[in-house]
Amino acid sequence: MSAYQYQTHDYDVVVVGAGGAGLRATLGMAEQGFRTACVTKVFPTRSHTVAAQGGIAASLSNMGPDNWQWHLYDTVKGSDWLGDTDAMEYLARSAPAAVYELEHYGVPFSRTEEGKIYQRPFGGHTTEFGEGPPVQRTCAAADRTGHAILHTLYGQSLKEKAEFFIEYFALDLVITDGRCTGVVCWKLDDGTIHVFNAKMVVLATGGYGRAYFSATSAHTCTGDGGGMVARAGLPLQDMEFVQFHPTGIYGSGCLITEGARGEGGYLTNAEGERFMERYAPTYKDLASRDVVSRCMTLEIREGRGVGEHKDHIFLNLMHLPPETLHERLPGISESAKIFAGVDVTREPIPVLPTVHYNMGGIPTNYWGEVLAPEQGDPDRIFPGLMAVGEAGCASVHGANRLGSNSLIDLVVFGRAAAHRAAEVIDRNAAIPPTNRAEIDRALDRFDALRHAKGGTSTAELRDRMQRTMQADAAVFRTDATLAEGVDKMRAIAAQLDDLRVTDRSLIWNSDLMETLELTNLMPNALATIVAAEARKESRGAHAHEDHPERDDANWRKHSLAWVDGNDVRLAYRPVHLEPLTRFEDGGIDPKKIAPKARVY
Ligand code: FUM
Repeated sequence: MSAYQYQTHDYDVVVVGAGGAGLRATLGMAEQGFRTACVTKVFPTRSHTVAAQGGIAASLSNMGPDNWQWHLYDTVKGSDWLGDTDAMEYLARSAPAAVYELEHYGVPFSRTEEGKIYQRPFGGHTTEFGEGPPVQRTCAAADRTGHAILHTLYGQSLKEKAEFFIEYFALDLVITDGRCTGVVCWKLDDGTIHVFNAKMVVLATGGYGRAYFSATSAHTCTGDGGGMVARAGLPLQDMEFVQFHPTGIYGSGCLITEGARGEGGYLTNAEGERFMERYAPTYKDLASRDVVSRCMTLEIREGRGVGEHKDHIFLNLMHLPPETLHERLPGISESAKIFAGVDVTREPIPVLPTVHYNMGGIPTNYWGEVLAPEQGDPDRIFPGLMAVGEAGCASVHGANRLGSNSLIDLVVFGRAAAHRAAEVIDRNAAIPPTNRAEIDRALDRFDALRHAKGGTSTAELRDRMQRTMQADAAVFRTDATLAEGVDKMRAIAAQLDDLRVTDRSLIWNSDLMETLELTNLMPNALATIVAAEARKESRGAHAHEDHPERDDANWRKHSLAWVDGNDVRLAYRPVHLEPLTRFEDGGIDPKKIAPKARVY
């Protein structure tokens, strides 16, 4: 029996994480009448969604013609034909209703002259199934859209009497007879342990950007959901696809929204050339992110980078009217000043492709139910567990996500999870009882880390992991860099057994918390590099120089990675090719979304 005492809490639903997806799920569950708890390691309005700038995609047609089918087409093409068609259709079709719901909840969107929600262009969002000009589809609250959404959803969740457990760190899932029955947490400010028994656990823990050295992600983005799922013996999906945002501020990695290019900003190299015109003659700086990031990297490699070391690119906003900068881009004007010392009205911003988003994550269907694929049943549902937002992989982003499809993913699938829960949770059933043996197992792991006496500090090991991922699972990859990266990462992961924690206390112990976070980052990072090494093609964000073509015959499939210590087992599951709605019933013409060369 564990030496730790714990308090138990019984809820219908426990949501882990309070970013956009977690709060939308929490609100939806509470609206359904479920007794809902949201446990979160940071105060809800400090979750990483607060940093989302440019906006949320939905075909509202406020600024010109648009429709869900064009949005679906762009998402399919953006995903490089790896996304699940049913999930992508669900996203594109549900997006307008989800955004109007946000508006009615009180999100202070920017407005057009007529008072409609303002929408701006974003990379890869087009008209006429990619044949027409860019579309203004990205609904914005200036360049602080995530901030606006997060505050609104938190307020609404409180109004619906959802209960928040703030600064509780989720340690492990409780699995009882093949279903999830709860989660074990450590309360950071007083050191107590809490067990949440629930009929449904929803993981909304965000991405794992901090597996890399330079990321736009907050330091809290440590893949905690993926870590817990891996320890529960469940797989992670499509982890090789890591998005680099073209415009992280050189040096700090702080995000400069794609909305800056949507409002007319453009990139230049050392010769002052607007080089994107060469690579993407139609959509130029508004090609999709993976494309722009690769072009910037090529410019730097070929000696046309800017700055003393010719190692970055300029983003120009000086030509934009001051009122546009003031009204539409106030946040990034401030960030450029603080993090690059640049006055955007006079000077270009130094930028570099920076890790921004994980397309991969915990596999789910489009209702957010977690999948535990088996031989012969690739869509098997793991009961009692859902995953939404960046932690999950529905899969709507496939091999590359379009900008502003993330915020819409959070709210569409957070909402879908609540709708599904209303169908699958038995309101008359008892809350699962406390599973003491499983809780002891989680607490034994916690205790072993708390008293770890090895030779390697958490900071040293994390630094090694981050530098290896940055160098070997980068924008461009080769057989050699990936193979070297896999070897290094296996050795680094093995060193988790040699960690040293110096602070043994239980109250505000950041040494222990960072150690727990590292044990979550590591399986995510390992799955990423092993799945990347195995995928012998180029697709979306996975640009493999030894296999430069997309290979649909052999590789149009999702990778699955089971991580156990420093060992990774890979398998694959088919991509869902069928849309939700048949063409005859008003669905998209399948010919429109058939695979073809992906050019912008
Ligand atoms: O550039 C941005 O504003 C980021 C948006 C996104 O990742 O969706």
